[in-house]
Amino acid sequence: MDQQAGPLRQERHGAVLVLVIDAPPVNALGHALRAALWQAIEVAEADATVGAVLIRAAGRTFPAGADISEFGQPPRAPQLPDLCDRIEACPKPVLAAIHGTALGGGLELALAAHARIARADAMLGLPEVTLGILPGAGGTQRVPRLIGAEQALRLMLTGKPVPAAEALALGLLDGVVEDGLEVAALRLAEGLVGRRLTATRDRREGMRDGAAYQAAVAAARLAQAGARLPAGARIVDCVEAAQLLPIEQGMVFERAAFADLVATPEAAGLRHAFFAERAAARFPEAKAEARPVAQLGVIGAAGSDLALLALQAGCPVVLVEPNRPQLVEALERIAAAQETAVQEGRLTPAARDADWERLTPALGAAALADSDLVLVADAGLLAEAAEAAPPGAVLALTGRGALPDSPRASDMIGLRLVGGRLAELAVGPQTAPEAVATARAVARRLGLLCLRAAAPGGIAGRVMLAGRAAVTHLLAQGEAPARVAGALRGFGLPQLAPEAAAEAPETGASAGRIIAQVLSAMANEGARLLERGIAQRASDIDFALVAGLGFPRWQGGPMFWADQRGLLILRRDLAEWGQEAPEIWAMAPLIADLAAQGGHFADHAAQAGSGQKDA
Ligand code: 3HC
Repeated sequence: MDQQAGPLRQERHGAVLVLVIDAPPVNALGHALRAALWQAIEVAEADATVGAVLIRAAGRTFPAGADISEFGQPPRAPQLPDLCDRIEACPKPVLAAIHGTALGGGLELALAAHARIARADAMLGLPEVTLGILPGAGGTQRVPRLIGAEQALRLMLTGKPVPAAEALALGLLDGVVEDGLEVAALRLAEGLVGRRLTATRDRREGMRDGAAYQAAVAAARLAQAGARLPAGARIVDCVEAAQLLPIEQGMVFERAAFADLVATPEAAGLRHAFFAERAAARFPEAKAEARPVAQLGVIGAAGSDLALLALQAGCPVVLVEPNRPQLVEALERIAAAQETAVQEGRLTPAARDADWERLTPALGAAALADSDLVLVADAGLLAEAAEAAPPGAVLALTGRGALPDSPRASDMIGLRLVGGRLAELAVGPQTAPEAVATARAVARRLGLLCLRAAAPGGIAGRVMLAGRAAVTHLLAQGEAPARVAGALRGFGLPQLAPEAAAEAPETGASAGRIIAQVLSAMANEGARLLERGIAQRASDIDFALVAGLGFPRWQGGPMFWADQRGLLILRRDLAEWGQEAPEIWAMAPLIADLAAQGGHFADHAAQAGSGQKDA
């Protein structure tokens, strides 16, 4: 009989036991699922009527990896590497059927099976390096055995997934089907009943050319020399160990490297950044329907960068600027950016011409009559834009000010471009949820990441300014510019470093104090944004800094930095430095409150409105 409970369903099809992983949203290999898989394999092995096992997944994807939220907690048996070994040791053939994204531990699980088949649109990858770790469930040992060091290192060091066809060509897969994966996999599994397939650990296809293997390891090691994060070099060591050591020892080597890396502060920062990015995607307006946007209006020459992004995204744009010379300059800026793109081979001349044809320059706001969303890049032109734009059109203000009171307040939202990658959407009390959804959809169409703020917004910019003010103060107090620059570069914030100095990155005790002063100012400003409700959660502030202004991802963000150090320490420091320069370090009351409760900024996040993600 089929069993339907928990993260693993079991179905019997003749001699084939089908294990259907069902742990939404991404079938991450958390403890309950690992335990269920382990038990199912034990049962399959003991049951004489089972001739083969098929592992597939329900929902949108084959497991997208280990459960990242379990990292940093005490490991619970069965651990993923043991589960993979257990699957591989099963004397009955185990087949993995992959759809969606088989990533990290998900791919490692599939590699421990005896055969793999995937749907053509599946993607396979080992993105662990982006989390500051390495494939820790046998990936560094099994992958090079199948596909050699060069390709294994490419997968692990870039972290970029490859499509099924490429994975097949590399040797990670045994078959690819256009669709009908379930049926095809079942048929394949039936054909495997009674057969004994070579375990991946005993395969050597990727190791036949020993010299090429060593050369790939040496080249990768050279490329990793001087890298800021340790994971890359450890990946190279593990891949080298795969050639030099018997697999049992290679696995132990990998496990030790994984344990080291997962405990590093850099990995903790990268995990925080991962979850901060996903939390930021939760908008309270997620269920609201975006209004269709066929034409985008931009009013104000300063909006030329957004106009260019919209053109590149294939959107028809009306660019209005009543001042003729300024309009001409804006057009010249767009043309120059396109020319550069053509020269650098990023844009074909034909695509440039097509972009240009979609652009309608105009001197008068009347040209906005068909625009579904108008980016108002000059607050002085808002009244004209509001009058000219059709009813229901969203008015997105790109400036710093608060959203003005207006009969069209429900159509108004702030949309600020931060660092060319992030759109901060500042929502006013009267902004309609549909206007938020529309602005978000447009920003995404323009290739931007989005962060929701309450008007007037300006999260990333304000926090960065607070850091800059601290740097200016330190220099004014006589701190050597070279030392300040060295400290900030060492931390990964060269954009805050004073220009005059070009000293080597510094990480000593005085660097620690400089960093603490700058980061405390930033966290303090972040706390004010939380108090005022401008930022929804502390992790949103971190996301804004990382995504928009190049704050080092592995440092997590200023709020994460403060949480890691502890708010009691932040409170102590601010109490001292706030006397010296209250305009920079006078403590936000929220910090005192949280510190008094032994809390963290992250706790404040938990209390804030959570919202939902849309598709
Ligand atoms: N562990 C825990 N949660 C995860 C997760 C994981 N590996 N992957 C995704 N999630 C969660 C997200 O946090 C999010 O949760 P939320 O809805 O509560 O915010 C939810 O799943 C959906 O994720 P996305 O919003 O990212 O969904 P997308 O459809 O945009 O993307 C994805 C799907 C491509 C699978 C993307 O989630 C992703 O890249 N995930 C991480 C993949 C990864 O890094 N895997 C390696 C993990 S480390 C590992 O396996 C170690 C091993 O070697 C031992």
